[in-house]
Amino acid sequence: MPSLSSLIDQAALSCAKARKAIALTGAGISVESGIPPFRGKGGLWAKIDPMKYAHIEALERNPADVWRVLFMGIADLLKTAEPNAGHMGLQRLERLGVLQTVITQNVDGLHQKAGSRDVIEFHGTHTTLRCMSCGQRASWQTVRLDVLPPPCACGGFLRPDVVMFGEPINVALLQRAQMLAATCEVMLVVGTSATVEPAAYLPVIAKHNGAFIIEINPEPTPLTDDISSVALLGPAGAMMDRIVQAVAGYKEGRL
Ligand code: APR
Repeated sequence: MPSLSSLIDQAALSCAKARKAIALTGAGISVESGIPPFRGKGGLWAKIDPMKYAHIEALERNPADVWRVLFMGIADLLKTAEPNAGHMGLQRLERLGVLQTVITQNVDGLHQKAGSRDVIEFHGTHTTLRCMSCGQRASWQTVRLDVLPPPCACGGFLRPDVVMFGEPINVALLQRAQMLAATCEVMLVVGTSATVEPAAYLPVIAKHNGAFIIEINPEPTPLTDDISSVALLGPAGAMMDRIVQAVAGYKEGRL
């Protein structure tokens, strides 16, 4: 079993040599920012039934409940969440000319807050709202939350701009993400349980195109044995710090 240091060195060397690396991130990269994951230890879905509150049919049937139980809780978490070393590490790989795009399943906006410039929000974003009827967008700052669901001037109601279970992924984002997965040389897969399609298939597309897959997760996932080239079994912040330090060393010819 290779040591963690040698796995990190392999990961860093593949990044340093890559002309086109991309990242796929999940809720785990935001855990160190105080945002719980959905599955695994402390997962949100252990407390809230996703089919009862995170499915589009639940929102259509019972918008006030979904707002009260799910959306308000997430909004509170996002108010104080700041990027952590995991987000900053991906931003630094972009500045080092290694990373081109972050494809994130997260809706917290933390990659953009960290300074990443090309972010595909595969499951939308919780940082803005839109009307279910007319599609009019609104910001959290301008919306009154003493009435749930918040009304739209058109008579409809507002909801976060996220992709709920039962809703499709934006076709243009899906096609771009699949094209990037099919053409990248390295894919960093950080903090995802790799259980929700179609995001979970992106690393498989990358692997089949010959990419080097670097998985970062304290736990093994369905990718770990057959898809990941190296699996760094640790938290995103510390692992990204070590990768970036080694990549910078290779880039500056110090290693
Ligand atoms: N660093 C890295 N990974 C971590 C950390 C950490 N500090 N802490 C936990 N993890 C890992 C967990 O081991 C788990 O594998 O992050 C993963 C989080 O998995 P999920 O909660 O399932 O999150 P994600 O994979 O993003 O879920 C995909 O499911 O519910 C939907 O729309 C939601 O976008 C979400 C999608």
